[in-house]
Amino acid sequence: MDHKGCPVSVLAEEEEDRGSNPSLNATLGDVIAQRLSRRDVMRGALAVSVASAAITAAVSTPGEVAAAPATASGTRFDFPELAVVEDETHHVAEGYDADVLMRWGDGVLADAPTFDPAKHSGEAQAQQFGYNNDFIGFIPLDESGARGLLVVNHEYTNEELMFPGLPPRPGDAPGLFPAITYRHVAIEMMAHGGSVIEIVKQDGKWQVVPGSRYARRITAETPMDIAGPARGHSLMKTSADPAGERVLGMLNNCAGGLTPWGTWLTCEENVNYYFWNDQAVETHPERAALQRYGIPKGWYQWARFHRRFDVGLEPNESNRFGWVVEIDPFDPASVPKKRTALGRFKHEGAGSIINGDGRYVIYQGDDERFDYLYRFITDGTVDIADRTKSRDLLDQGVLSVARFESDGTGRWLPLVHGKGPLRPELGFADQGEVLIHTRLAADAVGATKMDRPEDVEVNPTTGKVYAMLTNNSKRKVEDTDPANPRGPNKFGHIIEITPDDGDHAAEAFRWEILVKCGDPSVAEVGAAFNPATSENGWFGMPDNCVVDADGRLWVATDGNSGAKTGRADGVWGVETEGAGRGTSQCFFQVPRGAEMCGPFFTPDMETMFLAVQHPGETVSGGDRATFENPSTRWPDFAEGMPPRPSILAVTRKGGGKIAKS
Ligand code: FEO
Ligand code: CA
Ligand code: CA
Repeated sequence: MDHKGCPVSVLAEEEEDRGSNPSLNATLGDVIAQRLSRRDVMRGALAVSVASAAITAAVSTPGEVAAAPATASGTRFDFPELAVVEDETHHVAEGYDADVLMRWGDGVLADAPTFDPAKHSGEAQAQQFGYNNDFIGFIPLDESGARGLLVVNHEYTNEELMFPGLPPRPGDAPGLFPAITYRHVAIEMMAHGGSVIEIVKQDGKWQVVPGSRYARRITAETPMDIAGPARGHSLMKTSADPAGERVLGMLNNCAGGLTPWGTWLTCEENVNYYFWNDQAVETHPERAALQRYGIPKGWYQWARFHRRFDVGLEPNESNRFGWVVEIDPFDPASVPKKRTALGRFKHEGAGSIINGDGRYVIYQGDDERFDYLYRFITDGTVDIADRTKSRDLLDQGVLSVARFESDGTGRWLPLVHGKGPLRPELGFADQGEVLIHTRLAADAVGATKMDRPEDVEVNPTTGKVYAMLTNNSKRKVEDTDPANPRGPNKFGHIIEITPDDGDHAAEAFRWEILVKCGDPSVAEVGAAFNPATSENGWFGMPDNCVVDADGRLWVATDGNSGAKTGRADGVWGVETEGAGRGTSQCFFQVPRGAEMCGPFFTPDMETMFLAVQHPGETVSGGDRATFENPSTRWPDFAEGMPPRPSILAVTRKGGGKIAKS
């Protein structure tokens, strides 16, 4: 989701997100270090990754770099670069097709009605593909890889584009859209969550399998178990759930991940937007924690009809959101589980790897200005041969938060009850409370405040970790540090983390900045890409990302639209190795007003799935779009049909791997 944030991607950043971290934690001073030239070499340890290979985990030799030869551009990306534009439709590099596979409102369940935006209902939406698709995961169902499941997050809703007759978004104020009715809210709640669809490739093109036995819609009302250390905690109990063990729905699911045991990790991000009642905060028993989490933000109207979203009436309900949810996509009747051991914050995604010792490691960003980067390590080890043995693997482990030092080293600081300041006398009664108040615990141990950590992914061939820092217009120059070197940071940067000795469970790591984003030809921007990067190759606001099975980094962006960089959001291939390191090339661009989400590869690398979120949202010049006046009617381009967030399948004309000769 968007320019910080989310439902409000259209709003000025300044209004939108001030960040909610008042702690005194290090910004490390005013030393501005450029670390682009330093190279680290990974040592030791066997790495097994599932970054893009789903259940068929890749095994690599330490330090090995993908074998693909460098192209004329000095990179391993072999495609004709796209000339950047911003217009009403999508664009992909020459020689490729980008086909619409699934749109908002298309049928997911067998008896789903035909989408009719003029007569839409919550009942219909509960059977149809949800809004604002973000994370996509592909899980092969057979050896051929031509049949599989797609799991897709539906992050949030754009009422002004979805519903006829509503005014444009007026600004960052509670009580927005007074015209919203119970019917609208029902549609919104059913358009959130996720979808599981079965797809099959026939004659080189992917199609949805109608009436699949795997088909599933997960919504803001799907019952879910609370699992892990916060299950049953007093801060998780509500009048509807006095045991603190079960919650209805998941909210604002942004990016995610797949596990090697075949489950889908879907991550709740901007959950503060769903809660109401500013007045109740003053007397709320958890006032400091609510403020640290920006709750209540009061954007959605749900609390008018559902008391659980009013923090005055139901003080603990908001504690039950902001988690990573694990879902078994093979069983539509399975109960999703909120894995509280992974912490509670604005989770962006869940980039993972099996460590050399067999433990499972998940890297996570907390997408807020001045918030943190996290790592979770399971206590137990992954059993790839028997997936049932990993069923509850994520319930026990150690969550840590990153501290970046100015000399290019860093440390993971464990958030374990009883250690350091995480003691009852300092407000942490038990491990459940440490996790429910993860941000407060991370403040207490001295984590480094980052420039909005978005997606984090592990390179399966090198074991290096890539963290997208999307931007931070609120960082002042005196608050910069070597890991967040620009103030304000308008265009973001990418940090590369190398675990000591190739051990993802090690306390120490080294880091360097891979690229600093923005237009390198404008000196004041302070961007840094490899000089081989073309005029089309640079980008701003890195957000989602993926590393393919050959170890190539692909970055999706959010926020370029609307004249910020004069180019639409899209997907760029970014070289991380060799002489071409730091070179970026444009592969795909979204239609006007949209944000780029996904991406995800099939294991054979012949398909890249992409998610186009909120097309038509921004009208150029900063006007705010409506159902009647969107800035594009992509992908249908039909009168009376609004723009529709959609999934695309990108394939090479005539077949073959993406961007490889
Ligand atoms: Fe939902 Fe941080 O993007
Ligand atoms: Ca996003
Ligand atoms: Ca994202």
